[in-house]
Amino acid sequence: MRDRILKVLIENNDKFLSGQAISSSLGITRSAVWKHIKSLQQDGFEIESRSGLGYRLIALPEELDQVTLVETMNTRIIGKNIEIHQVIDSTNNRARELALEGADEGTLVIAEAQAKGRGRMGRSWISPRGKGIWMSLILRPDLPPDQAPRITAIIAVAVRNALNKATGLETGIKWPNDIIIDGKKVCGILTEMHADIDRIYYVVVGIGINANMTQKDFPTEISSTAASLRIALNSSVDRRQIIALVMDEVEDIYFKYLINRDFQQILDQCRQHSVTLNRPVKVIGRDKAFEGYALDFDEDGSLLVKKKDGEITKVMSGDVSVRGDQGYV
Ligand code: BTN
Repeated sequence: MRDRILKVLIENNDKFLSGQAISSSLGITRSAVWKHIKSLQQDGFEIESRSGLGYRLIALPEELDQVTLVETMNTRIIGKNIEIHQVIDSTNNRARELALEGADEGTLVIAEAQAKGRGRMGRSWISPRGKGIWMSLILRPDLPPDQAPRITAIIAVAVRNALNKATGLETGIKWPNDIIIDGKKVCGILTEMHADIDRIYYVVVGIGINANMTQKDFPTEISSTAASLRIALNSSVDRRQIIALVMDEVEDIYFKYLINRDFQQILDQCRQHSVTLNRPVKVIGRDKAFEGYALDFDEDGSLLVKKKDGEITKVMSGDVSVRGDQGYV
């Protein structure tokens, strides 16, 4: 009932609603309405109450909840089912469990905090409570597994576009899937899939966005290379709006691609926003590294690097980190 009252308040947030109107539309007493309003206020919902007029929702709490998030979403499939956790080991782990149980494409797992957030190449991902957007999306693309890197490119473009729309900031893509603001990393994407030789069963796309982190939330090892939207904008951001924008962009770009299969369009966007191309780079693998010049992206989403001896080599995203020759970007 509390959720239904909240939904009515959200849908009518441009006006006051009388206790009587709420109680008769939901079939409960006015005192029950009042009790639920009190409980919502205690949970951080700012609800104005005026005698003779009723109640009006003014502001939402920072903490994410199912009802308000669903109300903010505009998508049909992507982010349609949402699971929100206060603390979880990793949203990618939970999404994988759900995918194995048969969860629908578009199911989204979000956590306020992750105890064991994971990054690429076995790194950990710092995920303090309420400071970021830690989420994983289940996709079931009808593609052969060797085309999975295309999904990574699609998601990188979608998140870049969404962050640019949400903040107006210039956002770039550091190949394969870091989103960059002012030369620093604001978002990382971890794509994990389950496939057999000719078929993808599911892809879990983990997206970590440093939304409202302050400089002191970053450990010293990454404090010079990590950015947050809050630091860049000098004000905190509305995580619901950003999640909704990311879902909009993913829905748009991903389904368009599955229909027209035009990967050139995606690659063009990657090229346009790349902070990696046409620069000297250092490719760091698990056990060896080399230097070269980032020339272009290949059809499958890999990076073409011209080595110092002139040989052009194809770098796949799985096992490498790419750095600018002067530092992170
Ligand atoms: C990277 O840049 O190394 C990828 C970072 C991915 C972090 C996100 S946060 C949500 C999801 N759950 C995880 O454990 N990791 C991803």
